[in-house]
Amino acid sequence: MMDKIIVSAPGKLMIFGEHAVVYGHPCIVTAVDQRIRLSAEVLDSSDFELEAPDVEVTNYKKSISELGYRDVPEGAQFIEVAAKNLYEKFSLNKGLRITTISEFSSKFGFGSSSASTVCVVKALSELFDLDLDNKEIFDLSYEIVLDIQGKGSGFDVAAAVFGGTLYFLTGGKIIEPLNIGSLSLVVAYSGIKADTVKLINEVKERFTNNSKRLDEIYTAIGSIVEKAKEALLKNDLATVGKLMNENQILLAELGVSIPKLDSMINAARRTGAYGAKLSGAGGGDCIIVLAPQEKGFNVEQAIISVGGEIIDVKSNEEGVRVE
Ligand code: PMV
Repeated sequence: MMDKIIVSAPGKLMIFGEHAVVYGHPCIVTAVDQRIRLSAEVLDSSDFELEAPDVEVTNYKKSISELGYRDVPEGAQFIEVAAKNLYEKFSLNKGLRITTISEFSSKFGFGSSSASTVCVVKALSELFDLDLDNKEIFDLSYEIVLDIQGKGSGFDVAAAVFGGTLYFLTGGKIIEPLNIGSLSLVVAYSGIKADTVKLINEVKERFTNNSKRLDEIYTAIGSIVEKAKEALLKNDLATVGKLMNENQILLAELGVSIPKLDSMINAARRTGAYGAKLSGAGGGDCIIVLAPQEKGFNVEQAIISVGGEIIDVKSNEEGVRVE
């Protein structure tokens, strides 16, 4: 048994299929080169200690036997519940000190909560010789995320565990790595933090009297994902871009795009992008743009001119690993 370990897991970007993937349709997600790093150390005491300055948790300490849902600051929730679930499941009992450092802000919607959860599961697997494989790490982490959020497809957990670019079906029923290179995406933040669970609920409410149309939209998004998978595998970027635009029209019909995202997307399209769409739940967070390499600079300037913030990220990065 080791005493200390450092692991890291990547953030993610949804490329195609958000919202529909919550309801049994596929999506495509890519892992990004911005990571959460977590160090975990076994203690002689029976305490749980956490330092997570990026989410304003410092000097946090409680007894292992008190790990749980009550009196847990928001920033500590995922890490603490992850530890609690694993300690119970595998009858662990030693004290633990966890420290996290994030390379990206939790406001971007890159999936910091899921990446941290995956890091805890991986770290405990290594520290206590649990010998969990990636699918087991996915299943345990997804269960923890559902315990806290109640909703979610698990796509972000899959990206954090497996990395690369994945064709993913709700709950991890299919997790298929796509053999493609890094996409030259322009990623831009709207300045508005989105609340994923609130947006999922709002879509449901908006369509309470029109569930037939909602099903049609989700099915149409699912078929865009299938076409996008083929186009990505062929490296047919013009088609990928066109499909991004089609996906965006359906997201707008769901009611999750907002004027700020629309103006950033339109600015990108006007300057020669193949296509652009929001990425994630909508209501804020980021847009992704696929553009010919030589148009990248102009696209970025156009997005900045309407108030977007360019974020320098690469796609298709490695999943969870020991550092
Ligand atoms: O807001 P994000 O980036 O976590 O993306 C949410 C994507 C949804 O499809 C709306 C939810 C999910 O869990 O798949």
